[in-house]
Amino acid sequence: MGYFTVIAAALIVLTAALLLSADSSTAKLIKHHNHHHHHSEEQCDVSDGKWVHDSAYPLYNAMKCPFIDKPFNCIKNGRRNREYQKYRWQPHHCNIPRWNGTDFLMKIRSKKVMFVGDSMSLNQFQSLICMIHSANPHFNHTYSRKGAVSTFKIPALKISISFLRNALLVDLIKVGNKRVLKLDSVQKSAAAWKGNDILIFDSWHWWLHSGRKQMWDEIQFGKVKVKDMTRLVAYEIGLQTWARWVHKNVDSKRVRIFFQGVSPDHDSGREWGQPNATHCIAEQRPLTLQAYPGGPHPADVVLNRVLKGLKKRVHLLNISKLSQFRVDGHPHIYVTASRRAIDCTHWCLPGVPDIWNQLLYAFL
Ligand SMILES: *[C@@H]1O[C@H](CO)[C@@H](O)[C@H](O)[C@H]1NC(C)=O
Ligand SMILES: *[C@@H]1O[C@H](CO)[C@@H](O)[C@H](O)[C@H]1NC(C)=O
Ligand SMILES: *[C@@H]1O[C@H](CO)[C@@H](O)[C@H](O)[C@H]1NC(C)=O
Ligand SMILES: *[C@@H]1O[C@H](CO)[C@@H](O)[C@H](O)[C@H]1NC(C)=O
Repeated sequence: MGYFTVIAAALIVLTAALLLSADSSTAKLIKHHNHHHHHSEEQCDVSDGKWVHDSAYPLYNAMKCPFIDKPFNCIKNGRRNREYQKYRWQPHHCNIPRWNGTDFLMKIRSKKVMFVGDSMSLNQFQSLICMIHSANPHFNHTYSRKGAVSTFKIPALKISISFLRNALLVDLIKVGNKRVLKLDSVQKSAAAWKGNDILIFDSWHWWLHSGRKQMWDEIQFGKVKVKDMTRLVAYEIGLQTWARWVHKNVDSKRVRIFFQGVSPDHDSGREWGQPNATHCIAEQRPLTLQAYPGGPHPADVVLNRVLKGLKKRVHLLNISKLSQFRVDGHPHIYVTASRRAIDCTHWCLPGVPDIWNQLLYAFL
């Protein structure tokens, strides 16, 4: 787990000046028949809402789920206060269906589901298999890791859910001893995406890294070869290449495609009105503000722009803003048992990614 090793090596701050403005297409959910609303066709933006305390949460017990990587297992690493596990996302104008793990399995019966992306995708993948495992303990399962792929299977239902590590989505190739990032090609990466029925992509954090964590030595697209470029621009070109692949290769009658919105990190307290904060360490509660003071995540703005052109084929899991409010949900010092590192990027499990999966469930 290169990512975590590096985090553990030093008190890492993923510095990002994350302030731009947004516009975007919207995650819609048919309004449920509840109390005074009867217009069931009316659509509702599920990402417009607030976090509410709910004692029925969490949806699973970290100590009983064998799939959680150590850096996400905050309880195991010594986090005592479990309040962060007890929040549910409540949209203002509709309800998200309650999680029903049995029903979820029926929906993905005989299907291959694949998460493709970086460790934020891994975070969501592990959350999902814990949610499933806890709701359906009587089903036999298998779990394996081979190279860049982890796979959870329920043979009796012909279900396979896997995670493929592929942080940049576009191709990264070796030319001599140079690692070349090919912004205009996904051919190599996409070979492993084919044959799945449901794909959930994510990509952002590794576009930001420089120095030792930077994954390439050179960037190429068309005839252009550069050592480096504005990362948001590279990200957008890469996403457009991915989008072209979707457009050409995905039969939307057969294959469902989701994209996880950009997950925010909380290293700079200025973004949420705590200029003196040491990362997210002291945070115990979700923010109850109307809007995140730091504004929308600039990478999310780029992502939304690209996905807008693919509205029919790709469903955005619009998790960026709702996650911005969860300053309390990161592992911070409980990313390791030794507490010598800080992680305000990933999320404790159970926790915030469980809600991302509830959105996935809602739209499946
Ligand atoms: C995502 O949700 C936020 C918060 O409700 C909203 O402002 C934004 O327009 C949504 N983005 C998209 C692409 O739907
Ligand atoms: C969960 O879903 C299953 C299968 O659709 C259904 O039989 C069951 O009643 C549901 N459980 C609850 C609590 O809604
Ligand atoms: C689970 O696996 C065990 C051992 O292979 C088998 O005896 C049992 O019948 C299986 N249970 C189900 C529900 O398939
Ligand atoms: C931050 O620290 C400075 C210097 O100690 C202090 O003057 C200021 O009031 C603090 N601000 C907040 C919001 O706590």
